[in-house]
Amino acid sequence: MKTIEDLDVAGRRVFVRADLNVPLSGDTITDDGRIRAVAPTIAKLLQSGAKVIVASHLGRPKGAPDPQFSLAPVAVRLGEILGKPVAFATDTVGDSAKATVAALADGEVTLLENLRFNAGETSKDDAERAAFADELAALADLYVGDGFGAVHRKHASVYDLPARLPHAVGDLIATEVAVLKRLTEEVARPYAVVLGGSKVSDKVGVIDNLLGKADRILIGGGMVFTFLAALGHEVGASLLQKDEIPTVLEYLERAKKNGVEFVLPVDVAVAGSFPDVKTGAPAEGFEVVAVDGIPADKLGLDIGPRSAELFAEKLADAATVFWNGPMGVFEHPEFAAGTRAVAQALLDGDAFSVVGGGDSAAAVRILGFDETKFGHISTGGGASLEYLEGKTLPGLAALEG
Ligand code: 3PG
Repeated sequence: MKTIEDLDVAGRRVFVRADLNVPLSGDTITDDGRIRAVAPTIAKLLQSGAKVIVASHLGRPKGAPDPQFSLAPVAVRLGEILGKPVAFATDTVGDSAKATVAALADGEVTLLENLRFNAGETSKDDAERAAFADELAALADLYVGDGFGAVHRKHASVYDLPARLPHAVGDLIATEVAVLKRLTEEVARPYAVVLGGSKVSDKVGVIDNLLGKADRILIGGGMVFTFLAALGHEVGASLLQKDEIPTVLEYLERAKKNGVEFVLPVDVAVAGSFPDVKTGAPAEGFEVVAVDGIPADKLGLDIGPRSAELFAEKLADAATVFWNGPMGVFEHPEFAAGTRAVAQALLDGDAFSVVGGGDSAAAVRILGFDETKFGHISTGGGASLEYLEGKTLPGLAALEG
């Protein structure tokens, strides 16, 4: 893959596909990690005299403009981080984008509006995607792929556009891939993987692959209840994916055969209903129960304190740790303890620790941990999981050659 240094960018229009899909509460960015992560690439291009056109998706609008998914607040934050104004184009390939790009002087930057406001970006129809990629290509001379969080998407700006312009990989993607190689090639052992998040169905591919690679797999988050149900426990009103029970049982069986240790929680924090994460008000009926004592009318919302200790023990001697997905509803103070304990265990140990993904990366920052103390905080959730599944990622394949 070519890098930015291989491109002659001075005076040229450089299209940077970033992943600026940040969490928003109204107009407020609640975690700007993804903006900060790609800013050095943009700054480097600007210093080299490029006219930089940054583009990204945000959320999942339905192929048409939708103000709640506007990138306008991101343009403001990006400007603050870069220390220079970011001209915001109010469309993607329309009059505003064309005029804003035409007005760029060397060393100036614009951010286009949300790429997913155009149906061609995510279309499954090759011709529709190609037509949008052609319009994007007309705005630029060169392409830099640096939206790691979106490289698993076969989308126009990720997959089709690089084929139309001389291209290079950005510094963020280069770093992310180098880190993921440490988790797939010549891994330092013991190699522990902590998986959380709500749905087991999002993680089956990665567990399947890790059963041949990891030494220990620790399970938390909403997905734990499908494991507990598979082992015959009552899970009350907790999140449960019944159709995944056979898969989970097969994994537990295969783990035994392969000598992979599956670590499940021994206790959980439950409540009578989903807590109000906005007000943080005490959850009705909060209690900590053993995993074989979940009341029928309650739902599990975090791993319990004994599980947190157990998980910390299982991480203490690891040489490599990959963590994806929170252990509970960390946005609510009563259900943040499990996620906090895993983050702390990574800091206390000596492992090369990789925090993969949107939610767990945001959790680390929102819970006040110093992100520089972790081995690496990835900007890609789905992307890093699919990489670890061993899949070919369209956005990386497009940057080869
Ligand atoms: C993410 O948040 O994982 C990336 O930005 C990709 O977003 P998507 O799942 O909506 O494609």
